[in-house]
Amino acid sequence: MPTEELKSDAAKYLMQTYARQPISIVRGRGSKVYDLEGREYIDFVAGIAVNILGHGHPDLVHAIQRQAAQLIHVSNLYYTEPQVRLAQLLIDHSFADRAFFCNSGAEANEAAIKLARRYGHEKHGPERFEIITMTNSFHGRTLATIAATGQEKVQKGFEPLMPGFMYAPFNDFTEIAALVGPQTAGIMLEPIQGEGGVHVADREYLKNLRGLCTERDILLIFDEVQTGMGRTGTLFAYEQLCVAPDILTLAKGLGGGMPIGACLAKESVAAVFTPGTHASTFGGNPLACVAALAVCRVLLEGRVLEQAKRMGEYLAKGLADCKDRHRAVRDVRGLGLLQGMELDIDAKAVVADCLARGLLVNATSERVLRFVPPLIITQGEIDKLIETLTAIFNQRVLSEKAAHH
Ligand SMILES: Cc1ncc(COP(=O)(O)O)c(C=O)c1O
Repeated sequence: MPTEELKSDAAKYLMQTYARQPISIVRGRGSKVYDLEGREYIDFVAGIAVNILGHGHPDLVHAIQRQAAQLIHVSNLYYTEPQVRLAQLLIDHSFADRAFFCNSGAEANEAAIKLARRYGHEKHGPERFEIITMTNSFHGRTLATIAATGQEKVQKGFEPLMPGFMYAPFNDFTEIAALVGPQTAGIMLEPIQGEGGVHVADREYLKNLRGLCTERDILLIFDEVQTGMGRTGTLFAYEQLCVAPDILTLAKGLGGGMPIGACLAKESVAAVFTPGTHASTFGGNPLACVAALAVCRVLLEGRVLEQAKRMGEYLAKGLADCKDRHRAVRDVRGLGLLQGMELDIDAKAVVADCLARGLLVNATSERVLRFVPPLIITQGEIDKLIETLTAIFNQRVLSEKAAHH
């Protein structure tokens, strides 16, 4: 179906929750995708930090094909081996002792919030239920996770919000310490705020949070839905920030494109989830788990993580050079292959210019471009991004000048 017709059917049949770019994507290979008219795009969005192995990675495709033919789903009323193996793999390579599987980032955070509340109740009594989260954070779109998200724009019109959340400014230990009390069950944050404009947590701040949480038996929860699975050059961002949480959530990259989320926790915390306390029909089904196993195995084999680290540095340097050359660029921030570029012009217009020049990029807010390519992105593809951004910024300066004369 031609793109124009598809757009008009989408306008007719779908709930209008998304502002989409005007292309219809039909195929992908490596770091590139192709639209219906056959135009090629280098993918610096990767399904919003999801397709970490790019498109059509043979290990992932074959794992899904084999499993689909064998068994797609049976529920958690029975044992299935891929789920257990995936938990084992994640635990062998993290701080955690146990895993719970679900289908998305919001659900992983729901599990983390429930786990923290239940831990608070069981260990300290029913008045310990509050979770402190950060302003400008993003934790999902369910009712609990919009309450956890410290941004009014995702909450507006859905009030009353679920009670039990307090907000503190990111990277400000004094403010958060002042909010902590006997009611505090958990502190939840993204090690790098992604949707909020790419802000990296300071190590000292995280170290202080860790100390405070340990001292008061408050659970430290890291939302690594976006930063996990090699995005920053290590399997989890917390490894580089040198502070381990009590609970960690994953989704996005975990299945390389298959919907799967996970909530990982230490034994003492996970123990409060007993049979019947939490569940998901689809959670951890064999199809999603073999996909995640394939993704994990590729990452743990090492080369892709190494490439993500090198290309992350290369991208950061390219963007920083761009900042030095163009006054439209205010700041460049990030870690590994999660990079943000703050502009003093409308980021959405730059996204549209990039699209017209064969690049998929995304704006997290009015002024911030976010780059989250597949971890297999190459130096040549990054060069193309920097060249394109340079051309776009130069073009804008020229049009500004012309408008002045
Ligand atoms: C840090 C973080 N947490 C949670 C979510 C929500 O994930 P999902 O859209 O899979 O529910 C996102 C999505 O962007 C995210 O970036």
